[in-house]
Amino acid sequence: MKNIIEVKNLTKEYKNKKAIDDLSFEVYEGEILGLLGPNGSGKSTTINCLLSLLNYQSGKIKIMGENMRPDAYDIKRQIGVIFQDVAVFEELNVIENIDYFCGLYIKDKSSRQECIEDAIKLVGLENYKKYYPKQLSGGLLRRLNIACGIAHKPKIIFLDEPTVAVDPQSRNNILDGIEKLRTNGATIIYTTHYMEEVEILCDRVIILDKGKIIASGTSDELKSLAKIEEKVTIEVQNLEQKYIEEIIGFKNAQSVVYSNNSLIITYKKGKNNLTELIDYLKNNKINYSKIFSERPTLNDVFLELTGKELRD
Ligand SMILES: Nc1ncnc2c1ncn2[C@@H]1O[C@H](COP(=O)(O)OP(=O)(O)OP(=O)(O)O)[C@@H](O)[C@H]1O
Ligand SMILES: [Mg+2]
Repeated sequence: MKNIIEVKNLTKEYKNKKAIDDLSFEVYEGEILGLLGPNGSGKSTTINCLLSLLNYQSGKIKIMGENMRPDAYDIKRQIGVIFQDVAVFEELNVIENIDYFCGLYIKDKSSRQECIEDAIKLVGLENYKKYYPKQLSGGLLRRLNIACGIAHKPKIIFLDEPTVAVDPQSRNNILDGIEKLRTNGATIIYTTHYMEEVEILCDRVIILDKGKIIASGTSDELKSLAKIEEKVTIEVQNLEQKYIEEIIGFKNAQSVVYSNNSLIITYKKGKNNLTELIDYLKNNKINYSKIFSERPTLNDVFLELTGKELRD
């Protein structure tokens, strides 16, 4: 896989406070890389350093093989950024806003026209072309913000928490749009504190905490870091204590809790845990109304590595 971005030993301090602490990673061409981390973990600071919008104390950043600098305009032309805070012009309507941002990169009017139409289609704003930002809901405004950032068809796209405080419909629309951008050949760096999003969207994930990388890999690789393999829930009425004790004795069972007619078993690594349990229930003629198994989430991984929840 070809690197399109390389970051080596990046450190950024704000007034003696380390926001980024010796960060090294690469982004592969054509992938969606997720930067997952709680508030204040350094996601936005990382993006701003990569774009040379912030000075940093030490580190090396290469984009498309070139050293990134504040005046590296050839590189910047091929980048699209959607910042965490929506930034559009109140006095321009949807089309005019996209036209303005796209016009910073594409001077030819007819090719720009095509780009604007494509961007509107991508974010699903066809019915709002003449609307002003004030007339748009939070979700639609985010979609406009994205359209402004990607209309010039950049090779590399940074999106900083684009789905915060948007309705589910806009959220799905945004996630689908990002998939399409990747299909069209872009490389995407996506920051979020929603683990579900990185699981759906990202090829690889970097988990950040206090400006450091605490783990990275595919979602499945990260989940394999969790000590538990699965969690099984069974809804069963009045289960006798002797059965609970026998289940605690199962080879891979790690913990068993029974309350409100619900039995929750966590398992260490091991195969056929669910099959073993179903056989046991059948052999002992224990009736249950529901049984389901869940894999650990990225939140379980984060909890295990840091001792705290990903969400605040
Ligand atoms: N301009 C600034 N001056 C001083 N400290 C800052 C500044 N910007 C960010 N920080 C601090 O740097 C750390 C990283 O902040 P950053 O905004 O990069 O985190 P984040 O992961 O993007 O958080 P969020 O999810 O809230 O957007 C935090 O401790 C934050 O308080
Ligand atoms: Mg941020």
